[in-house]
Amino acid sequence: MVIGGASGIGWATAQLLSARGDTVIIADLDGIAAETQATELGGNTTGHRVEVTDEQAMRTLFDTVAADHGPIGTVVDCAGISRPGTIADLSLADWKATVDVCLTGAFLTVKNATHSMRDGGSIVLVASLNGRQPGVGMGAYCAAKAGVLMLTQVAAMELAPRGIRVNAVNPGFVHTPLTYGATLVPGLVDEYIENTPLGRAGTPEDVARTIAFLTSGDTGWMTGSAIDLNGGAHTMRYPNIVERVAEMVATNSDTE
Ligand SMILES: NC(=O)c1ccc[n+]([C@@H]2O[C@H](COP(=O)([O-])OP(=O)(O)OC[C@H]3O[C@@H](n4cnc5c(N)ncnc54)[C@H](O)[C@@H]3O)[C@@H](O)[C@H]2O)c1
Repeated sequence: MVIGGASGIGWATAQLLSARGDTVIIADLDGIAAETQATELGGNTTGHRVEVTDEQAMRTLFDTVAADHGPIGTVVDCAGISRPGTIADLSLADWKATVDVCLTGAFLTVKNATHSMRDGGSIVLVASLNGRQPGVGMGAYCAAKAGVLMLTQVAAMELAPRGIRVNAVNPGFVHTPLTYGATLVPGLVDEYIENTPLGRAGTPEDVARTIAFLTSGDTGWMTGSAIDLNGGAHTMRYPNIVERVAEMVATNSDTE
């Protein structure tokens, strides 16, 4: 099951897991996109609408899938949003929305997975470079993703007796609909790339391949771990998004 599987990293993951022969369940807030992508994958793939922050909806999703297909082997949580803003200016609503989807969603994923998974299965949570590297204007997202990394470790300890492994991936900048807004800010993506030793942004497929690896027998002795996947960006500094946006606003008002 790939939650947040209708777009970006989740969709690339769904395609890869399907190509290796898994029966894939795509769950997403955008239920129409989930169903459309499921149809594209064909086979036994099904698409479902789910709000990852809604405990009852998540319970129903996992129950339905387990009833239809039996105990689930792999669960990947790719659902995420980001509401940037400095701590001084960020609204409580934006803080809560980000933490709810990114952290509470991960909690509800693990919680429900434990009831519907087979022993020996694998859970992957998509955290972020921002779970370990701070960025100005990224307070809610950074805090939520750091929480996901600790949740990964606690879940790994609690589920180890059943042989269920819980790991995370920490992608750096990847071109997806989530990051489209950043591409509209002059110089921002360039600054990401300058701070990436391998000199390029990631692709959804880069991340999907690592997720597939974490759900394979090749990582059967790995749990409670997080894989940094960012072209080396964690060794450098994170761009100042707020400064870049302020520059853009100043330039736009100069030209008006
Ligand atoms: N793109 C990046 O640069 C990047 C970097 C690091 C981490 N991430 C993380 O990777 C994950 C996937 O992001 P992406 O870049 O593929 O973005 P995306 O926007 O392409 O995909 C996110 C998916 O999550 C779904 N979603 C959002 N809110 C939801 C909710 N409340 N309930 C259920 N589904 C919901 C969306 O409908 C969408 O299909 C996220 O957790 C994101 O934080 C992305």
